[in-house]
Amino acid sequence: MSIENLKCKECGSTYELGASYFCENCFGPLEVNYDFSGLDPHEVKRQIQAGSQGIWRYSDFLPFEGRPGDPLEPGLTPLLRADRLAERLGIEAELWLKNDAANPTHSFKDRVVAVAVAKAQELGFDTVACASTGNLANAVAAHAAAAGLASYVFVPANLEEQKLLATGVYGTNLVGVRGNYDDVNRLCTQLAETRPWAFVNVNLRPYYAEGSKTLAYETAEQLGWELPDRVVCPIASGSLFTKLGRGFQEWLDLGLVSGKQPVFNGAQAEGCSPVATAFAEGWDVCKPQKPETIAKSLAIGDPADGPYAVEQARSSGGGIDAVTDQEIREGIKLLAETTGIFTETAGGVTVGVLKKLAERGELAADERVVVYLTGEGLKTLDATRDTFQMHEIDPNLDSFEAEFRREVSV
Ligand SMILES: Cc1ncc(COP(=O)(O)O)c(C=O)c1O
Ligand SMILES: [Zn+2]
Repeated sequence: MSIENLKCKECGSTYELGASYFCENCFGPLEVNYDFSGLDPHEVKRQIQAGSQGIWRYSDFLPFEGRPGDPLEPGLTPLLRADRLAERLGIEAELWLKNDAANPTHSFKDRVVAVAVAKAQELGFDTVACASTGNLANAVAAHAAAAGLASYVFVPANLEEQKLLATGVYGTNLVGVRGNYDDVNRLCTQLAETRPWAFVNVNLRPYYAEGSKTLAYETAEQLGWELPDRVVCPIASGSLFTKLGRGFQEWLDLGLVSGKQPVFNGAQAEGCSPVATAFAEGWDVCKPQKPETIAKSLAIGDPADGPYAVEQARSSGGGIDAVTDQEIREGIKLLAETTGIFTETAGGVTVGVLKKLAERGELAADERVVVYLTGEGLKTLDATRDTFQMHEIDPNLDSFEAEFRREVSV
């Protein structure tokens, strides 16, 4: 494998492998272009299986000249059967959950950040930075600390307290911007022009985005080198959603897996649903929105990869749905009660959409469905407040019996 250049997704212009992210001819986004010709699928599979227990086992498909390293290597998170959840949803489909909260900073963002930070080092940067809705901030602060780099992370100032605490602890420069994510992103785009920093999701975005492909590879490997029939995945900028598709396609093209692309179902919160709206209206582009939802991690009103996500959902025969804040809370609860997994609001969005698909009868009995749970419930604790009651009692048996009104049989 060789990494060739950066290529414009719109007009195909190519650029050398530096810290650039948009096409000078048409302003389209740049993507890493590889040459996979000559790779022997049997040899690639053997090397993957002999590789590390994390994302670097897929280095052949990642954008590095040399071998990447990372003391906080993410990946190989559990893929679990969820029969009890399937039963509660009344579906016969084979249901799997990819629990990506089981990463070093408890979200899938460890994957993209590990790749971006390793690339920043390869390109000679000594400072990394990001515009974040929360999870990216956690991951950049942690991976920068692990690599011994300075870091600046920019977030909306009104973020969940847990996400701020879980960022500041790493000794980063945490900057709370009085505005929403799209304001933060605009500021970071300006800063990327003036500071010699690697903004992982701005000027390093083509490399950063490649990290999400590892979720596709892992899923295929954990399913015994097969692809799912359908995936359900949250959408903020649309990067994860589209890179899952790219990861599956690369392995199909190489013959590492057979069959065809899964059906893609995207999940958004109603309070920030530019991509779901574009899908529903039949538009090719997204109309920016002002976010107002408890799913802050998905609150991107002007999603960079929105049009590509719409196209992927459409061409795969899938869709993009949105759920209310109440449905998000119920999704978190349903998942926790049936699987023992406590997911964050983004996971509530995803489970909420899964429930909608089940109710509409869109999940066939012979399907294998993989649901991507991308973050940890402990980071968005407010979403579970007032969804249950604690039994408070005095420290004696009478008080317990009175509370539960049960017969004692001794
Ligand atoms: C937990 C979680 N899931 C999913 C996403 C969606 O990521 P993307 O911007 O790649 O669509 C995010 C983005 O911040 C996130 O924090
Ligand atoms: Zn172009």
